[in-house]
Amino acid sequence: MALLEVEDLAVRFYTEAGVVRAVDGLSYTLDRGERLGVVGESGAGKTVAALAVLGLLDDPARIEGDVRFDGESLRAADDDRLRAIRGGRIGMVFQDPEAALNPVYTVGEQVAEAVRAHTDRDGAAARDRAVALLDRVGIPDPATRADQYPHEFSGGMAQRALVAMALAGEPDLLIADEPTTGLDVTVQAQLLELLDDLATDDLAVQLVSHDLGVVAEFCDRVLVMYAGEAVERATVDDLFYEPKHPYTAGLLSAVPRIGADRDRLSSLSGTTPDLSAPPPGCRFHPRCPYAEDVCTKRDPPLVSTDDGDGEPHYAACFAYTGDLDGDLSFSVDVVDDTDDGGADR
Ligand SMILES: Nc1ncnc2c1ncn2[C@@H]1O[C@H](COP(=O)(O)OP(=O)(O)OP(=O)(O)O)[C@@H](O)[C@H]1O
Ligand SMILES: [Mg+2]
Repeated sequence: MALLEVEDLAVRFYTEAGVVRAVDGLSYTLDRGERLGVVGESGAGKTVAALAVLGLLDDPARIEGDVRFDGESLRAADDDRLRAIRGGRIGMVFQDPEAALNPVYTVGEQVAEAVRAHTDRDGAAARDRAVALLDRVGIPDPATRADQYPHEFSGGMAQRALVAMALAGEPDLLIADEPTTGLDVTVQAQLLELLDDLATDDLAVQLVSHDLGVVAEFCDRVLVMYAGEAVERATVDDLFYEPKHPYTAGLLSAVPRIGADRDRLSSLSGTTPDLSAPPPGCRFHPRCPYAEDVCTKRDPPLVSTDDGDGEPHYAACFAYTGDLDGDLSFSVDVVDDTDDGGADR
């Protein structure tokens, strides 16, 4: 049994402007110790999907489908149970550390609070554990730092403190939403290194990122979302070397590469659709250079592309259901320029 099983998850926001179909028919699993990257352009539904998994969406959101963690349905769990699991067995790191830390308490108090909430440690033991956690996430002189307030922390240090809080309950799963966004490149690299250290065999990670380089480096498998739907799911290698969905191909050629011949890069044109009125048929068809009539009428299911290498590789495209008249052919020169020492990452 997988650690996390998401089945046919749908999220709709009922707003005055209409119904926003932010996530539709999303299914994926995450095994123990596995690292899944979730990528896609802004507005693809990555954050909403993560929040829905954690039961963190309230009105006007309506959620359908099921989410099972270690066999237990989180959709059926009551608030107390959800609170125990969140921050306990599932740690979370969200974007914007400044907003996530409370300015009126010291960082140590906040980490200790998370420790008290999710373990049986109390008093001095919780404080000691908080200092140990700050130490574990690489905060220098953690005992002194624990007594400082969030404004005394740099962005990178604050993000480390949030990772420490996420680890307070010794989680089996860490969901990190753009954990490195907004940090400068060096700090970003250090934070990823930290996550890499922490994500041992016991800790599964769902890393939400718009940064394909980060995902390529860190993850085992990737889920590509477009306009609220999963359009491709594969191992990192399969996805980056042999993308099967035209959207993924476009996304990959849009990655700026140092040393790459810019003329060869065909970047994705157009923008994500308004999710209160998504296009009929395949949501990507208005931007797809390969779209045929069928693509404007029906939404393609996520099907196996069966490339014969034994690793499951799914894409939601009629090219793999036998419904396209022509052959789908696109080539991406993505990761063949890596001899330059990975400077393109
Ligand atoms: N509370 C809400 N009410 C209405 N619509 C919402 C709400 N929250 C999110 N949405 C919409 O849901 C869609 C998905 O948003 P989401 O934040 O998940 O995108 P994302 O993939 O995380 O993008 P980004 O890369 O910018 O973080 C967007 O169209 C967004 O406008
Ligand atoms: Mg987001």
